[in-house]
Amino acid sequence: MSFEFLGPELLTDLVVDLRLTARKEADPLKGHSPMYEYGITLHGSKARIGGINLRVGTDPSFLTSGHIGYGIDEPYRGHHYASRACLLIGNVALLHGLTPLFITCAPENIASRRTCERIGGKLLGTYDVPVDHEMYRRGRRRVCRYEWRPGSPPRLGR
Ligand SMILES: CC(C)(COP(=O)(O)OP(=O)(O)OC[C@H]1O[C@@H](n2cnc3c(N)ncnc32)[C@H](O)[C@@H]1OP(=O)(O)O)[C@@H](O)C(=O)NCCC(=O)NCCS
Repeated sequence: MSFEFLGPELLTDLVVDLRLTARKEADPLKGHSPMYEYGITLHGSKARIGGINLRVGTDPSFLTSGHIGYGIDEPYRGHHYASRACLLIGNVALLHGLTPLFITCAPENIASRRTCERIGGKLLGTYDVPVDHEMYRRGRRRVCRYEWRPGSPPRLGR
């Protein structure tokens, strides 16, 4: 059965907008799950300030790669926009019944770790990257793994 993409073209919290830029079908030969890619803009603007993607799948490789990847362009960092983008894209995950999600990052990536913590992610631990994982081939040896249930109260006050 083919995968049905359910995520909307536009998500907003009135501070940032997520605009759908790609919906990628699964590629079983490469072990790739269906993926959404959204560009992040400031609300009402068309100028991209970053991007976020969501991979919809449940196989064990997500324990290492995580379901969500994000980046904010340097000039726009420092406003917790990545946390906002995660909270928005979490709604897409929920449309697919995908919860909990895993988000992983390099242990030394404090900004990403804080992002996970702010949205209410729970640190499960720091783990070795399996030698047969594509992230190992790209040089990553350890990842912090956060478990996140979209819709759970974020810790935005901290
Ligand atoms: C991770 C990233 C998306 C966060 O961008 P952002 O939303 O602008 O995040 P902010 O700069 O607002 O920082 C979030 C938190 O991290 C803290 N932080 C940021 N840089 C930091 C640093 N170098 N050292 C310590 N803390 C830092 C901020 O103080 C803030 O903390 P707070 O929640 O206590 O206020 C951005 O840094 C980035 O694009 N990095 C490169 C790509 C990347 O690493 N993506 C994640 C892959 S898993």
